[in-house]
Amino acid sequence: MLVSSKELLLDAQKHGYAVGAFNTNNLEITHAIIRAAEAKKAPILIQISAGAIRYAGLDFLPMIARQAAMKASVPVAIHLDHGPSFELVMKALRVGFTSVMRDASKLPFEQNVAEVVKVVEAAHAVGVPVEAEIGKIGGAEEHVVVSEREALMTDPDEAAKFVEASGCDFLAVAIGNAHGFYKGEPKLDFDRLAAIREKVPVPLVLHGASGIPDEQIRKAVERGICKINIDTEIRYAFATTVRAFMAENPKQIDPRKILGPAIEAMQAVVERKIELFGSAGRA
Ligand code: 13P
Repeated sequence: MLVSSKELLLDAQKHGYAVGAFNTNNLEITHAIIRAAEAKKAPILIQISAGAIRYAGLDFLPMIARQAAMKASVPVAIHLDHGPSFELVMKALRVGFTSVMRDASKLPFEQNVAEVVKVVEAAHAVGVPVEAEIGKIGGAEEHVVVSEREALMTDPDEAAKFVEASGCDFLAVAIGNAHGFYKGEPKLDFDRLAAIREKVPVPLVLHGASGIPDEQIRKAVERGICKINIDTEIRYAFATTVRAFMAENPKQIDPRKILGPAIEAMQAVVERKIELFGSAGRA
């Protein structure tokens, strides 16, 4: 069933687990995410970025995700990932997203607040919750490119002021996490996360969770992370499975045969993450 992300994340916060938020670009990834959530009886977020909308079309991809959510036996929210502008957030509301992010984290504090306030006013008017970000998450995610040098972690006091001033419903934090593949082993700053948790009442979000070792993910959930974003590991499962299949079956031309094993591989990734996040059986 299609639901708002607010009820999912507040339940996660109350019971100490995290809901997985998985990025989709097409029908096959959407099927894999939904099948995994149903198999594990888990609530879930399907997220769509500005890049995914550019690729698949605002008139198509959100409709596929919404249709899948409405038919699903588990609660599913459709989330706009890293909303780069007020305009795109408004378009997302119009086509039925049940959760949006306005990412103005590259702007100075006051401007970030002002951008989020605008979106909060509009989104709350139609009952849609808003994720925002303070601090700069490293790595490259579609339009968001922050060099490691510039990457700045979230300051706990600033985070508290930001949530209070912006009225956002969830807060994405920068605690050593980065989008894409990590160079070397990531080390999350758990003291910082605990300090943020103490000062910030809303559910916290961890971006760039692909490649973070399981032990660190468990610790992050224990310390208050309620939504965990995964994209790269799904892409990796897709690409490696298609490559292997084509190497073994070079004459195959049927897209259904080529993509079928990739759907299964992506489903397996999502199922494993659901178990790790503690959201299995929470639907
Ligand atoms: P990864 O690609 O590192 O999994 O990050 C996904 C993400 O945070 C999307 O917002």
